[in-house]
Amino acid sequence: MDAYKLREDFLIYKNNPDLVYMDTGATSLKPFRVLAKMNEYYYDYGVNIHRGVYKLSYLATDQYDLARNKIAKFINAKDEEIVFLRNASEALNFVSLTYGEANLTEGDEVITSELDHHSCFLPWMKICEKKKAILKYIPLTEDGRVTIENFKKVLSNKTKVVAIHYYSNVFGFRSPIEEIIKLAHEVGAIVIVDAAQAVAHTKVDVKELDCDFLAFSGHKMLGPMGIGILYGKKKILKKLDPLYYGGDMNDEVSKNKVEVKEIPYRFETGTPAVAEAIGLGEAVDYINELGLENIHKYTKDLYNYTIEKLQNIKGITIYNKNPELPIIAFNINGVHPHDAATLFDEANICLRAGHHCAQLLTKWLGVTGTLRGSFYIYNTIEDCDKFINTVIDAVKFFEKINGESYE
Ligand code: ALA
Repeated sequence: MDAYKLREDFLIYKNNPDLVYMDTGATSLKPFRVLAKMNEYYYDYGVNIHRGVYKLSYLATDQYDLARNKIAKFINAKDEEIVFLRNASEALNFVSLTYGEANLTEGDEVITSELDHHSCFLPWMKICEKKKAILKYIPLTEDGRVTIENFKKVLSNKTKVVAIHYYSNVFGFRSPIEEIIKLAHEVGAIVIVDAAQAVAHTKVDVKELDCDFLAFSGHKMLGPMGIGILYGKKKILKKLDPLYYGGDMNDEVSKNKVEVKEIPYRFETGTPAVAEAIGLGEAVDYINELGLENIHKYTKDLYNYTIEKLQNIKGITIYNKNPELPIIAFNINGVHPHDAATLFDEANICLRAGHHCAQLLTKWLGVTGTLRGSFYIYNTIEDCDKFINTVIDAVKFFEKINGESYE
């Protein structure tokens, strides 16, 4: 993979030639062809879908459906199992508000973990409160992982739902989802997988996983913001009522009755994000052309190169050992991550600093937050060197400022 060549696809580097973008965990950069594809829709056939009885509307509808088909193939789903929503957070909430609302009762148990993103467990916290169900957390191992042994400690015949990450957004750890799904199904529970960090890095196959729901955002996988995907097993989606009622989601309406459309259309109420869906379809093509295995290998090499050097720097703490995703969660000892991040910013290095929408994890770590650097296809070895040197400079700077040694 030639990152220097690839960077030509990302116009942001033209305006910011010194940019070291290490915040793909928050959002990826977008290649020009994704933006061009969205513009093509607005310039050439930017009309509404499903409603117009004219050629341009048919074309827009076809392109929207084609995008759904590309995304379905990308995760090995059927087209009707792909629901376009706004982002992974909305998709995860959607499941608690539809499936959870219809199926949870008092005393039922829902399992999640402290490693999870707020969007994965807060929707279940709220519906559990409402239904008097119990939210249980898988105990983490000493190094902060979810294991199947610990999952078994909280699984019971009362478990109705498991909401769990594919990869942690802070540590980049992969949870043992295959085994979790298998065991959850044995007690009759469903599993919803937060795949927001997964889809840009690894082949996600919903049929092989046998998960019941899976959610991700377009913007973390080279696509636009404002479009997210909920995958749901056809037989489960078919039993769900819509969350929103309104335009385009119904077949027949009378004064006291509404017949809703088939899945997935009954869940996509009102005018959808057509350009964004089409843009996401283009991002899928781009990722497929690069190859997920190549992406994984390239970014892992960047990670390995960086971590080897970082481990020798005194005065920092690295929190995630051997992550499966190319993510480094660390702090400069004794320094608030926001203060440290401003130094990186001065070097034009974008890191995320704070709790990363995973406050249970920062509490588990006993810190106010961490710095997080995440790699993707447009990062180079030069980026890694600049990052490493800035870590060294930052340690020295804060030692001097605070008049103490962090070693
Ligand atoms: N969930 C995103 C992150 O991990 C925003 O940074």
